[in-house]
Amino acid sequence: MIERVEQLRSKAEAEIAAAGSAEALQELRVRHLGRRAQLPQLLRGVAELPAEQRAAVGAAANQARHALEEMLERRAAELRSAELGSLLESDRVDVTLPGAPPQPIGRLHLLTATRRELEDIFLGLGFTVVEGPEVETVHYNFDALNHSPTHPARAPSDTFYVAPPAAAGRGEEDGASPGASGAASELVLRTHTSPMQVRVMESHPPPLYVVIPGRVYRPDSDATHTPQFHQIEGLAVDEDITLADLKGTLLAFARAVFGDAREVRLRPHFFPFTEPSVEVDVSCFNCEGRGFRADGARCHLCKGEGWLEVLGAGEVDPNVYAYVPTSERNAPGYDPERVQGFAWGLGVERIAMLKHGIPDLRLYYENDLRFLEQFG
Ligand code: PHE
Repeated sequence: MIERVEQLRSKAEAEIAAAGSAEALQELRVRHLGRRAQLPQLLRGVAELPAEQRAAVGAAANQARHALEEMLERRAAELRSAELGSLLESDRVDVTLPGAPPQPIGRLHLLTATRRELEDIFLGLGFTVVEGPEVETVHYNFDALNHSPTHPARAPSDTFYVAPPAAAGRGEEDGASPGASGAASELVLRTHTSPMQVRVMESHPPPLYVVIPGRVYRPDSDATHTPQFHQIEGLAVDEDITLADLKGTLLAFARAVFGDAREVRLRPHFFPFTEPSVEVDVSCFNCEGRGFRADGARCHLCKGEGWLEVLGAGEVDPNVYAYVPTSERNAPGYDPERVQGFAWGLGVERIAMLKHGIPDLRLYYENDLRFLEQFG
């Protein structure tokens, strides 16, 4: 009887050791330890054995059953961990690989790309980039730029006035309009980047070569005006600077942006803070300055003019230097008898519009990907 138990045990042990899956183990459990299996049946029959055999056979059979149960558990655990190991292996993720499909990383907004392109051009010409506040005082935005007290650009229809913090705090809704509380607000959203001309001169001595990119604000809204837009101001102050230097600088800029064959033309104009003042045109790159296309049709870009207006500029008006107090920071100061300079202000939206044939300025701000994805 004992041999019979040992036989059953070693056969079962061999099969369990060879089992390759959880299902196979379950099947072996039924076959060797199930109700109809030989070992349990043998155990149940122990009571019928002659008394002298009972103890030994019962003990051997019980031991065998426990051993097999234990072995089944061990083998099951082994199979589970092997399965986990192979799952870990096959599911291994390399987090450094690009996604599938690779996701686009996006692009710069056309206005950002254009601003950077223009900054790079002027950096290459020896200018430094500086920035200034968008909420500006009436002093820097108008007074120090030689605007007369009655200049029309000061009107609330042309300039956003900002409620001073005290008035805003008291909830005076119309504290922002000049005259509403007796005195004009001293704060505006800058209407151009020119206020930085005086700020930069206050803190840096001549010679000065700077460009000032930034947001500006005016209460206009149509296909060619948005209430917020971007300018790049230029300011050069040194000894013996003439309008020819301005023209050469802007010619280099025009050729870098619109192509090597471009010419520039200056037309007389007026700005309160430059004298003389000019408007600057670039020869049309769409029709090579002829005004009409090869097929004889009028050029739609320059409307047959052959020239595109790109910016306003001029020689710094000596009156502006008088608004720059000499201090330790800008010694020896800006003496109009000694220094001259030129300045310009260009619209980033306008340059990008001309260059890329964009029909409506509002497209820049609508965040329509079908538009934005065409650039960059
Ligand atoms: N600030 C002027 C404008 O916004 C442009 C300009 C800048 C003109 C510098 C001359 C010199 O229209």
